[in-house]
Amino acid sequence: MKKNFVFYAVFVILFSRDCSACFQEDQENTKIVTTGSTFYEECCCYEPGYTIKHLQWLDPSNNVIVGPGTDSKVYTEEQTDCLSLHIPSASKPQAGTYRCVTKFEEKQYKQVHNFDVYDPVYFFGTKNNQNLVLHNDSRITCQAKGASRPLMRWYKGKDGQNEIFNETGKYEVTQEGLLIKNVNNDDEGTYRCSASILSTGEEVEIDIEAKVMTPPKITQLLASPESVLAAGEPLMIECLAEGWPEPKRDWKKIGDVNPAGNKTVSWTQTNDTIRFKNINPEDAGTYECIAFNDAGTANKQINIVVLTRPEIIGFTNKSIVEGTLFPIFCNATGLPKPKVTITYEGRSLDDERATDYEEEISNFSILNVNRYNEGIYICNATNDVDTTTQLMYLSVLHQPYFDNTYELLWAWNGETVNISCAHDSNPPANFTWSYTSDNFSTIESTALGNIVEDYEIELEHSFPFSSQFAPFGKHECWAKNEYGEANKVYYIRKGFIPSVIENASSTDETATSASFYIEPPINYEGPKVIGFIAEYDEADNYKITDIHPNRTWAIGVPFKLDKLRPNTTYHIKFAAINRVGTGEWSPKMAFDTMDKSAPEPPIWQVDALELSSSKVLKWKAPENNGEPIDSYFLRYCPMEEEQNEESLCKAHQVKAATELEVPDLQYNTTYYLELIAHNAKGNSTPANMSLTTPGELLNAPSSLLSAGAVIGISIVVVILCLVLLDVLLYLWKKQGIIASCCCKSKKRKPNPLNARDKKGLLKDNGKSGTDDTLKRPDNGHKEYEYNKTTGIITGKHSSV
Ligand SMILES: *[C@@H]1O[C@H](CO)[C@@H](O)[C@H](O)[C@H]1NC(C)=O
Ligand SMILES: *[C@@H]1O[C@H](CO)[C@@H](O)[C@H](O)[C@H]1NC(C)=O
Ligand SMILES: *[C@@H]1O[C@H](CO)[C@@H](O)[C@H](O)[C@H]1NC(C)=O
Ligand SMILES: *[C@@H]1O[C@H](CO)[C@@H](O)[C@H](O)[C@H]1NC(C)=O
Ligand SMILES: *[C@@H]1O[C@H](CO)[C@@H](O)[C@H](O)[C@H]1NC(C)=O
Ligand SMILES: *[C@@H]1O[C@H](CO)[C@@H](O)[C@H](O)[C@H]1NC(C)=O
Ligand SMILES: *[C@@H]1O[C@H](CO)[C@@H](O)[C@H](O)[C@H]1NC(C)=O
Ligand SMILES: *[C@@H]1O[C@H](CO)[C@@H](O)[C@H](O)[C@H]1NC(C)=O
Ligand SMILES: *[C@@H]1O[C@H](CO)[C@@H](O)[C@H](O)[C@H]1NC(C)=O
Ligand SMILES: *[C@@H]1O[C@H](CO)[C@@H](O)[C@H](O)[C@H]1NC(C)=O
Ligand SMILES: *[C@@H]1O[C@H](CO)[C@@H](O)[C@H](O)[C@H]1NC(C)=O
Ligand SMILES: *[C@@H]1O[C@H](CO)[C@@H](O)[C@H](O)[C@H]1NC(C)=O
Repeated sequence: MKKNFVFYAVFVILFSRDCSACFQEDQENTKIVTTGSTFYEECCCYEPGYTIKHLQWLDPSNNVIVGPGTDSKVYTEEQTDCLSLHIPSASKPQAGTYRCVTKFEEKQYKQVHNFDVYDPVYFFGTKNNQNLVLHNDSRITCQAKGASRPLMRWYKGKDGQNEIFNETGKYEVTQEGLLIKNVNNDDEGTYRCSASILSTGEEVEIDIEAKVMTPPKITQLLASPESVLAAGEPLMIECLAEGWPEPKRDWKKIGDVNPAGNKTVSWTQTNDTIRFKNINPEDAGTYECIAFNDAGTANKQINIVVLTRPEIIGFTNKSIVEGTLFPIFCNATGLPKPKVTITYEGRSLDDERATDYEEEISNFSILNVNRYNEGIYICNATNDVDTTTQLMYLSVLHQPYFDNTYELLWAWNGETVNISCAHDSNPPANFTWSYTSDNFSTIESTALGNIVEDYEIELEHSFPFSSQFAPFGKHECWAKNEYGEANKVYYIRKGFIPSVIENASSTDETATSASFYIEPPINYEGPKVIGFIAEYDEADNYKITDIHPNRTWAIGVPFKLDKLRPNTTYHIKFAAINRVGTGEWSPKMAFDTMDKSAPEPPIWQVDALELSSSKVLKWKAPENNGEPIDSYFLRYCPMEEEQNEESLCKAHQVKAATELEVPDLQYNTTYYLELIAHNAKGNSTPANMSLTTPGELLNAPSSLLSAGAVIGISIVVVILCLVLLDVLLYLWKKQGIIASCCCKSKKRKPNPLNARDKKGLLKDNGKSGTDDTLKRPDNGHKEYEYNKTTGIITGKHSSV
């Protein structure tokens, strides 16, 4: 509300009628107008003889104001008797003293017009919506300007009904505004601020909506999908905050040294949210959200962990010189820190045996590298994100190595000898053969190269020895590479047959057999003994013939002769055999077989598994000592707590078999077994054994059925077949064994015919055949006989 209040102070001074100018009295007035309003003042000339030509308007700077046109802000206008001053739109610079002057007899008269321009009262820097700070002293700003210092008044409520006064202590009215002390939520609402100028009577009002501000509070930093995530995934972090006015958000990464201004951030922010298209490992770190409004700021941090798949660093093929210390490790990056294992896979992955080699190597182990470390190493780095493997081939550079550096070989006419310079070497070695002949050689040391093609440079040689070609002697191969050299010596010597056996004796004689101890001869040059031959015969036969039985044994088997005659003197001689041939016979020696006697004790051969399935006890026939074994006596007694219960013992005699089925053998019982072999000469000493039979559950595979059992089963099957055939025959033709047997049996169940007989239907033996009831429908021609005494009917042609 603006009011223009014009105040005139007019001093009217009466002047005399004898005028000598337009006016002869000075006048002064003051006019105050608001900015922009129009100012108009007349200066009139009523005295006769004087016209407006005698009037002049002067501005505050004493310049003559002229008519409109030149200066549109201030101008004069001529009327009939008056010259009027116009200021169409007043402004502050135009304020000042304007004078209308007239002259008379060199005397000047003037009308003075004090012109003042002032602004109407108005509010400045005053917003309609203002915020109060909770729990603080807070000001609602309301400032006004006017012609003079305005009087500020405050009202609370929509209609401005409650005036606010200074005294309460809650409020303080100042020129800047209303200070509300210790703001609480009730202070929210509409306030009316009024400014009035007493001098002009102006009054303006403004309604201010006040809200209580609350400082921001960050309730949550929400990372989606997670604050821990794998590299490459998109990430969004939301900063949820409360406060009034709605807080604005700023984001920064902690530890970012670059000033925010020209840092190209890897995220984009919209309102309260930052987004990463795909997060990088470098984006990991702490992010801070700063929420701020006029009431304050708040910040909160969130830690973003970027998981990365394992990456193996520097696990690459390497060549290491043997003997150097080589740290074998697998360095892997990744988050979380990967678990690293190194395995050795052998020389080749295809190698079937590779799994045998596969061994785990601790993460960081220093190998004192040798050639056996060569091969494939696989590093496996695994973390929660992924698993990565990398293969490294460790190549070990080393001098040549031979498996054996010296080999003695025997050769003779017809033998072929192979020699090889095969070696292990990295890088491949140069090698060469050299030859030194010995006494038996047919070739000069210098000449072998001429005879054998590429003797020096071929890796392998095969020498067929003959009387013409016999490269006996030393064949040496040298292999060399930059890491060293090695040699291998083959000594090929002439091989001879074994020398005479010097030490042989009989160790064990029975009535029919003899065993020997033979010491291989050593006093010869040649390959080792592989067997022996013996020529032997009864001493008496030597007078009759030169042809005697012989027997060869390979080394390793018992040297035993059997099927000898009891109570006889034998002569025997031996010779040793090697790959060259058979040695000389040793001198003859004699041995005697024993007299016939009772057999040796039998030898138990009990298998628990077999026993559980078949309950068959087995043994091995012993040496019969000249007379055949005719029977065995078996006795077995269950043992109760290691005590032999004589009363429970059972005995069996077994003829011409070396096994016995014992069905009454209890499972899971300890038995004392005694077995005696018998021949014409008597009983052997008993073979004793204590045996715990297995538990019943022990299941034997059916394949363990003995041959005897198989034969037994076959026989039973055959018999069953025959019986079945016979039954069919009986049913069909009333013929066969059953027919004949059962017709004689008195125990047969009563035939329906017997019942009839009881009724006296079949009294006459001779006529029975004609009875229709006896005829089978499809067997009408069949004739039956009825035996009155037995009550049995038989077919006339049955086989009885
Ligand atoms: C209100 O009180 C303050 C100080 O107590 C004083 O400066 C101010 O002029 C007073 N205002 C009014 C309108 O009385
Ligand atoms: C920031 O940008 C200015 C000018 O573009 C450059 O001179 C300054 O080196 C930059 N600062 C950083 C830390 O990159
Ligand atoms: C950001 O805030 C403005 C104003 O509050 C709103 O209009 C806009 O929809 C917001 N943008 C998003 C992406 O939320
Ligand atoms: C609240 O008042 C205290 C002391 O009076 C002052 O330090 C603080 O800056 C004020 N808070 C606001 C948001 O004005
Ligand atoms: C593993 O790699 C890291 C990064 O390249 C390196 O700092 C560290 O020394 C390496 N560790 C070993 C044992 O070489
Ligand atoms: C492997 O060994 C190095 C050196 O000893 C060690 O720094 C590293 O932590 C180990 N790495 C693992 C996965 O055990
Ligand atoms: C690597 O090791 C992890 C666990 O130790 C296993 O699950 C994975 O199969 C291994 N990878 C290979 C290729 O051997
Ligand atoms: C490492 O050695 C293996 C076996 O010799 C080979 O197959 C592979 O290509 C080699 N890798 C590199 C990177 O040389
Ligand atoms: C192997 O022989 C070749 C050619 O004869 C020669 O160049 C090389 O130096 C030899 N290497 C060694 C280790 O003697
Ligand atoms: C061994 O006996 C067989 C026939 O019995 C005979 O042919 C062979 O020559 C004999 N061997 C020796 C070395 O006497
Ligand atoms: C054993 O032989 C000797 C003579 O060779 C003979 O006197 C003796 O009666 C024989 N003994 C038996 C039991 O036959
Ligand atoms: C065998 O018998 C003993 C005692 O007589 C018993 O403790 C054991 O469990 C039995 N074993 C089997 C396999 O039946």
